[in-house]
Amino acid sequence: MTHDPLAPRPVRDSQSEMDEIVLPNDANPLGALLGGRLMHWIDLCGALAAHRHSRNHVVTASVDHIDFLVPVRVGDLVILRSSVNRVFTTSMEVGVKVFVENYIADSAQHVASAYLTFVAIDREGNRLKVPAVIPDTDEQKRRYDDAGRRREFRRSEFNRRNVR
Ligand SMILES: CC(C)(COP(=O)(O)OP(=O)(O)OC[C@H]1O[C@@H](n2cnc3c(N)ncnc32)[C@H](O)[C@@H]1OP(=O)(O)O)[C@@H](O)C(=O)NCCC(=O)NCCS
Repeated sequence: MTHDPLAPRPVRDSQSEMDEIVLPNDANPLGALLGGRLMHWIDLCGALAAHRHSRNHVVTASVDHIDFLVPVRVGDLVILRSSVNRVFTTSMEVGVKVFVENYIADSAQHVASAYLTFVAIDREGNRLKVPAVIPDTDEQKRRYDDAGRRREFRRSEFNRRNVR
């Protein structure tokens, strides 16, 4: 039996998690995590899910806006979770949700969420088709539907910004 590389794959197969302890080099002089460092981690964690789902190289095509909801401090444990919300043709929307975990109090707070679009490419930079993603849970189905609406919005904003 031949393996079809474009066979659809469930969301759960590529869901990813990345954990980071905030060190002084990640923070401003007041000991608060730099927004740029968090954006870097969000990009990496998003790419994990995109790599796992597409089983190919990917580039970040866009990052939707990010709100930083609560400050994060040196010594805090940051948890990032990513999953592929929807695949289009060569691109996929990945959602990344970030929490700060207080491991002493055993509590977690939502820090930020972001939607990123990754495009699968080969070593020469040619775009590649990505297998469809199968949402199983109600939450995954909601994200799948929402991703379609976000793509339309993203496209119209892209065209508006890049009118020459
Ligand atoms: C992203 C990139 C590969 C798209 O190439 P392109 O020639 O514009 O390709 P197309 O217009 O045919 O689009 C290819 C796919 O990317 C999507 N895409 C392109 N630009 C996008 C954007 N700004 N946001 C979201 N999706 C985008 C398209 O919708 C299309 O998706 P589909 O195949 O699933 O329908 C190209 O712009 C690129 O290489 N950018 C630099 C990426 C990079 O270096 N990232 C790291 C940051 S420095």
